[in-house]
Amino acid sequence: MLLGNSLLLNLLSLLYLYVQNILCEQFHEEFIRPDFCTDKVLVSLESYLTQESTSVIQCAARCSLDNKCLSVSYRETDKTCFLNFGRLAYDCGNGVTLTDTVYYQKKDSVKECMNNGTLVNNDCVCYGGYVGTYCERLMTDCSEGFSEMYKDGKFGLYEVLPPGAPRSFKVICRMKWGGRSMILRHFTHTYTLNRTWVQYLDGFDHWPVATWIGLDTLYWLSRSKTSDLTIEFQKKHLPPEFLRIVYEKFKIGNSSTNYQLLSAQLNYARSTVNVTDCLFGLIGSAFSSYDMDNNRVPGLGCPLTYGGAWWYNGACAQCNPTGNLYHNPGGNRTWVNDEVFWEPFDWTPIRVSMWLNN
Ligand SMILES: *[C@@H]1O[C@H](CO)[C@@H](O)[C@H](O)[C@H]1NC(C)=O
Ligand SMILES: *[C@@H]1O[C@H](CO)[C@@H](O)[C@H](O)[C@H]1NC(C)=O
Ligand SMILES: *[C@@H]1O[C@H](CO)[C@@H](O)[C@H](O)[C@H]1NC(C)=O
Ligand SMILES: *[C@@H]1O[C@H](CO)[C@@H](O)[C@H](O)[C@H]1NC(C)=O
Ligand SMILES: *[C@@H]1O[C@H](CO)[C@@H](O)[C@H](O)[C@H]1NC(C)=O
Repeated sequence: MLLGNSLLLNLLSLLYLYVQNILCEQFHEEFIRPDFCTDKVLVSLESYLTQESTSVIQCAARCSLDNKCLSVSYRETDKTCFLNFGRLAYDCGNGVTLTDTVYYQKKDSVKECMNNGTLVNNDCVCYGGYVGTYCERLMTDCSEGFSEMYKDGKFGLYEVLPPGAPRSFKVICRMKWGGRSMILRHFTHTYTLNRTWVQYLDGFDHWPVATWIGLDTLYWLSRSKTSDLTIEFQKKHLPPEFLRIVYEKFKIGNSSTNYQLLSAQLNYARSTVNVTDCLFGLIGSAFSSYDMDNNRVPGLGCPLTYGGAWWYNGACAQCNPTGNLYHNPGGNRTWVNDEVFWEPFDWTPIRVSMWLNN
């Protein structure tokens, strides 16, 4: 009798362990602790049922039986099981976080993409500059957009939110070579970049003929990351010939300084030719347009005679990338002040491009 009793007990405890094992396996198959919410737990999710459970596994098993249950919260201190209608989407939320409560959600609960993202193979495909698992935030710049989501190799208009910026900005990105922000593009002899301060401040866009990013956007983009500024001149169409100048550690001041050029280091090795370090002499200068001449040496009228807007210092500059393209494009320099040039080159390009990599 005694033997029989302990045999029965043994069998029962084996059966119990067996059932526990199955429950545990089912639990891990069906539930997940989302990686954005492992160490803290939100309980402001609406629970439709609260009951006592011996473990989170038992709590989840109850949820498992119910289609309308998408997640469980389990308070370990008093073994309370909450069955929730909803589930967390992309963060732990702003609700009360309790360290004694764990949270699990059903793996197959439908993922919802935010900001017009679409679900493809259970991944959110985002648009317009949104990134993240759920398209929940804007990219900080084109490089981040490229590494996170956008890799079509094309030019596109995106919304970016640089760290610390008070608002988002529209930026034309080239989603290739790591992602670039287009600062300037000038590609026709009929269009002039001799424009007002307000236009240089806000930016202008006549894609694909001409575009300028806007000074505030340029400031925010170059503020928080080490940025390279690349300036490229196309000499002629066929075969295409380019002159490329790469500046590292490009930084400008904010509007209070009139977007003073703070730093720019010419990298000869990454440039295609040995050019004059034009920006070196301009460090410390504010940005100027014809109607807002911030040259420290007054009365020279650099933007007026150079026909563009740039950082000018004293005797203007040894380069004029925002000048006019109608003076013999693709041919020899004509030596007028308002043509596009970069010393010591004696030819006029047909196109100027400028971009930021960060
Ligand atoms: C999503 O699409 C709607 C309808 O086209 C549009 O009104 C809305 O601005 C879009 N939202 C975003 C974040 O792009
Ligand atoms: C520009 O930056 C300086 C120093 O960080 C700050 O004091 C000033 O308020 C800023 N100006 C604007 C317009 O944001
Ligand atoms: C570039 O050219 C100048 C003038 O010819 C020369 O003094 C300088 O050493 C050159 N720099 C490099 C990096 O080749
Ligand atoms: C630039 O525009 C201003 C205002 O229209 C004008 O006075 C100036 O002559 C122009 N400069 C060039 C080089 O075209
Ligand atoms: C351009 O300049 C080069 C020398 O710098 C000269 O040989 C050539 O004839 C010039 N071309 C024209 C069309 O003037």
